[in-house]
Amino acid sequence: MDIMIAVQDACVSGQWLTAIILSLCCFLPSCLPAGQTVDYASSESVVSRQGDTALLRCYLLDGISKGAWLNRSSIIFAGNDKWSVDPRVSIVSNMGDKHEYSLQIQKVDVTDEGLYTCSIQSERNPRPKIIHLIVKVPPKIYDISSDITVNEGGNISLFCAASGKPEPKITWRHITPSAKKFGTGENLNITGITRDAAGDYECGAENDIASPDTRTVRVTVNFPPSIHEMKSHGVRPGYTALLRCEAAAVPAPVFEWYKGEKRLSKGQAGIEIKNLSSRSVLTVTNMTEDRYGNYTCVAANRLGTVNASVPLILIIEPTTTSATTSAVSSPAPNTAPYGSTGGAEVLLACPYLLLTLSSLLCVY
Ligand SMILES: *[C@@H]1O[C@H](CO)[C@@H](O)[C@H](O)[C@H]1NC(C)=O
Ligand SMILES: *[C@@H]1O[C@H](CO)[C@@H](O)[C@H](O)[C@H]1NC(C)=O
Ligand SMILES: *[C@@H]1O[C@H](CO)[C@@H](O)[C@H](O)[C@H]1NC(C)=O
Ligand SMILES: *[C@@H]1O[C@H](CO)[C@@H](O)[C@H](O)[C@H]1NC(C)=O
Ligand SMILES: *[C@@H]1O[C@H](CO)[C@@H](O)[C@H](O)[C@H]1NC(C)=O
Ligand SMILES: *[C@@H]1O[C@H](CO)[C@@H](O)[C@H](O)[C@H]1NC(C)=O
Ligand SMILES: *[C@@H]1O[C@H](CO)[C@@H](O)[C@H](O)[C@H]1NC(C)=O
Repeated sequence: MDIMIAVQDACVSGQWLTAIILSLCCFLPSCLPAGQTVDYASSESVVSRQGDTALLRCYLLDGISKGAWLNRSSIIFAGNDKWSVDPRVSIVSNMGDKHEYSLQIQKVDVTDEGLYTCSIQSERNPRPKIIHLIVKVPPKIYDISSDITVNEGGNISLFCAASGKPEPKITWRHITPSAKKFGTGENLNITGITRDAAGDYECGAENDIASPDTRTVRVTVNFPPSIHEMKSHGVRPGYTALLRCEAAAVPAPVFEWYKGEKRLSKGQAGIEIKNLSSRSVLTVTNMTEDRYGNYTCVAANRLGTVNASVPLILIIEPTTTSATTSAVSSPAPNTAPYGSTGGAEVLLACPYLLLTLSSLLCVY
């Protein structure tokens, strides 16, 4: 209680600054008389986002009262005297009827979080206003797995770490039309991975302070080639046959074509080969007797090799001269649509090869 007498003395003698400091001292646990505590539960909270300007409001109620601001136990302002060296703090004073004496902190950071006291020295019962400044931080992903390549059947463990306050929740999503979601947590483990699980995985970090931060990891799943379904149509002499070989493989397959045992290559007369990432098209122009026979497509990548064969079958069409003439005189070479081989039905079906004679053209 000695301190109260000292405060009163100081007030009487007009030493308001001393009075304030002494009364502030009463609210610091270290100098509270035993058994007396400050009721922090009644303190008000101000939530601010990292980097924003926080305003801690306080009013003096009359023009005679004096105020002071403390950060924990350090004086920031005593009246309008700035004690703090921090350039971010200032007093917002507005001489309206309430005599504002608010504390403004620019670019708040997590280290500013804590209890701030606005102490008022007045004729009336001085009551400090205690404000709990809470600083929240938007989520930010600071570490994530690099893109990864794995063989089908292998295991992967993806990792994603984020900072933020409150601690962000981490979620994983496979970016596919179905957008499969996984459980939360920094790790996403997949065992026995399948080719369908390839693609981009998005890590999202979210808390209630700002929109989520997201980053993605690309997962490549390698698998050996497999050749899809196959069809074959007959082709008439003089026409062009197109043989299409489609293979699924990662990395993309390298294609080769054989006729019987003989390797076919570009430059060879009547042979054209065009490779696309998952498909190779063999064009055999000007079909002649010796070009009928089995054609084999070989697709290979570093995980395996597969082949499939299809015969190109001679069709001797029982056409009339006029029909032949009309076909031959057809103006544009590509006008004969797919499957226009009339009586030539699907001759063979192998479940693994799509070898399509997709168009026929009249060359001569
Ligand atoms: C409040 O005190 C803490 C701890 O001393 C300090 O890190 C922070 O910068 C202070 N903030 C202000 C606005 O004075
Ligand atoms: C993948 O995980 C399974 C189950 O956890 C384990 O049995 C297997 O040995 C792992 N495979 C590899 C290649 O690490
Ligand atoms: C995932 O894998 C990581 C690293 O291999 C391991 O530390 C973690 O415990 C695993 N998490 C789960 C849920 O299996
Ligand atoms: C493309 O086709 C040619 C034709 O002979 C072949 O030699 C080459 O390896 C193929 N390339 C790819 C990437 O499949
Ligand atoms: C097409 O084949 C016929 C018969 O073998 C031949 O006379 C003709 O020169 C060939 N044309 C081309 C462009 O290869
Ligand atoms: C064509 O291939 C099939 C199956 O691969 C085979 O049974 C057939 O004997 C081959 N025909 C010729 C003429 O090589
Ligand atoms: C095609 O595959 C069979 C069996 O896997 C193999 O014996 C044959 O040599 C292959 N043919 C070619 C041209 O690679």
